[in-house]
Amino acid sequence: MNLPDLKKARIRTDKEVEYVYLDEHYQKLFAGQKYFLKTYGCQMNVHDSEEIAARLESLGFSKTDVLEEADIVILNTCAIRENAHDKLYGFLGRCKHLKKEKKDLIIGICGCMAQEENVVKEIMNKHQYIDIVFGTHNIYKLQDLIINKKEKQNIEVYSCEGDVYENISYKRDSKIKAWVNIQYGCDKFCTYCIVPYTRGKQRSRKSKEIIKEVEDLVKNGYKEVTLLGQNVNAYGKELKDEINFANLLEKVANTGIERIRFVTSHPWDFTDEMIEIIAKYDNIMPYIHLPLQSGSSRILKLMGRRYTKEEYLTLYHKIKETIPNVAITTDIIVGFPNETEEDFKETLEVVNACQFDSAFTFIYSPREGTPAAKIDDKIPMAVKEERLHKLNELINSYSLKANQKYLDKTVKVLIEGVSEKDSTKVFGYTETMKLVNVENASDKIGEIIDVKITDAKSFSLDGIYQ
Ligand code: 5AD
Ligand code: SF4
Repeated sequence: MNLPDLKKARIRTDKEVEYVYLDEHYQKLFAGQKYFLKTYGCQMNVHDSEEIAARLESLGFSKTDVLEEADIVILNTCAIRENAHDKLYGFLGRCKHLKKEKKDLIIGICGCMAQEENVVKEIMNKHQYIDIVFGTHNIYKLQDLIINKKEKQNIEVYSCEGDVYENISYKRDSKIKAWVNIQYGCDKFCTYCIVPYTRGKQRSRKSKEIIKEVEDLVKNGYKEVTLLGQNVNAYGKELKDEINFANLLEKVANTGIERIRFVTSHPWDFTDEMIEIIAKYDNIMPYIHLPLQSGSSRILKLMGRRYTKEEYLTLYHKIKETIPNVAITTDIIVGFPNETEEDFKETLEVVNACQFDSAFTFIYSPREGTPAAKIDDKIPMAVKEERLHKLNELINSYSLKANQKYLDKTVKVLIEGVSEKDSTKVFGYTETMKLVNVENASDKIGEIIDVKITDAKSFSLDGIYQ
């Protein structure tokens, strides 16, 4: 195909990138055709999918939620745990079947699994029906990969570390709240985690660009931003002359956006300055996701987490004491290689001491290429499953207790849309990130309203607008 002049995108290194097709030349090329985009994994992937959707629409594709209607299927994958692999191949089976009927169907795989060498080899050898593979560093090439699709598979998974793209278009899922990347990748290399390998080293965006993005969102009526990164509070550390995360939070607060959230924070990078700034600004939400991973200092050391049980608890209490009504949630892994009953008991002790608002809990999953995967693990799966079950019961009891504190109180809720379970109600989140189903507020979508809490369950609240 003869390509017309291309618009070029700017990247932080001020190099120009080729192959970035921005809208107009190709807008009609796939008009009338549909895309089906499925996203696995974390918020980072959800936000990447907003970029992927914008790129597909720039070529003329429109969205469908029905797989059978699709002319192109893109699966944005996750690699954090092993079962992600099985889920993906289950779904790919359906795509392969569809392609038998629809010969021109384009099937694409991207995201963290596409950065795994063994997965790419497997796709090349065993899954020839997959047309396009692109990694987390190559989303900007999507239009090019589609336009130049050949008989052979199109594979783009090299990483261009150091580059940060600006001026990205997103098709945002919401008109009320938005994700804003502040950094890509992670330098922490926790021994169980594959993220530093699939997403590369930490690259922070320039604060000027982040603030510009938030200011545009404010102008466009957005009420909430969530600053996104694998390790947000290490923001800027690898850049010369860049502000730190606490100062960035302050600058974002000064844009006047009504609500600011941020995920995920690493306890090791959590500073007193951050705590003070979160406490000082009403538009920085009193909600912190602070992964514990384990309550045993011995396991934390093996995990490479850089803090002890005692240091975590000190930080936890400092946050609780300084930020009024703060909600703290966490991530916990059970069954790290050779975790003893004593180690696990310490995790339960920390959970009892912290009484988290809620927690994501996982059974350790060995990821090829990570240091922990090389440890000879003697703990049977049944033991790990029982630990997870015990931990979940404890976590859920504290979630209920935390939610019950809201009963009869009136809290501010940003209403996001119609409730999935009951169409007479709307749903939204409190400042502390509690999901509330609200009566009497159907005309309040997009607004922050006062809601009186009438019922509390482990995972949500009910309330009424008065
Ligand atoms: N096994 C189980 N859980 C993991 N996580 C990250 N890597 C693994 C793994 N190999 C969990 C951590 C992290 C969350 C996003 O996923 O708890 O905070
Ligand atoms: Fe993975 Fe640790 Fe980085 Fe989080 S901080 S993404 S757990 S390496």
